[in-house]
Amino acid sequence: MSTHWPTIRIKVNGENREVNVPPMKRLLDVLREDLQLTGTKEGCGEGECGSCSVRMDGELVNSCLVPVLQAQGSCIQTVEGLAMDGALHPLQRAFLDWGGAQCGICTPGMLMAASQLLERNPHPTIAEIREGLAGNLCRCTGFMRIFESVIAAATQSAEGRQTERPTHAR
Ligand code: FES
Ligand code: FES
Repeated sequence: MSTHWPTIRIKVNGENREVNVPPMKRLLDVLREDLQLTGTKEGCGEGECGSCSVRMDGELVNSCLVPVLQAQGSCIQTVEGLAMDGALHPLQRAFLDWGGAQCGICTPGMLMAASQLLERNPHPTIAEIREGLAGNLCRCTGFMRIFESVIAAATQSAEGRQTERPTHAR
């Protein structure tokens, strides 16, 4: 006997999408498996690492903890939604240029957390960046390159130009 799951409607990166899936299926899995948006990564699967961070109606959420039913009718932004018209978001550019990404597992979540931070605080201090990204763990970079990338993106956005690389950046 086939099971008929309810239709869940969400807007993802500006597009209306519908899925027929178990209502308790994790938003993370719906994005990756049903919508083929594999940019969002799974780290711990327990709400501890932030690798799966996406924005739901503008708020950062751990998509491994969100049953898709809870996302019904909401607007989801994933890392695939950051680039505009084929141009990288300033944060993506800065992470590339300043060594903010190494293995890349934490990077999509970091970018989503950083995008929320810069929207709310366009000129954060290091302490504010540390606090804004506190829910996102990185095992590779030691965090400083990530913080520097966020500062670079903020500066670039403010000044509309590339900033100089830090002397210790590769
Ligand atoms: S995979 Fe969701 S918080 Fe770690
Ligand atoms: S770049 Fe590897 S976990 Fe952050």
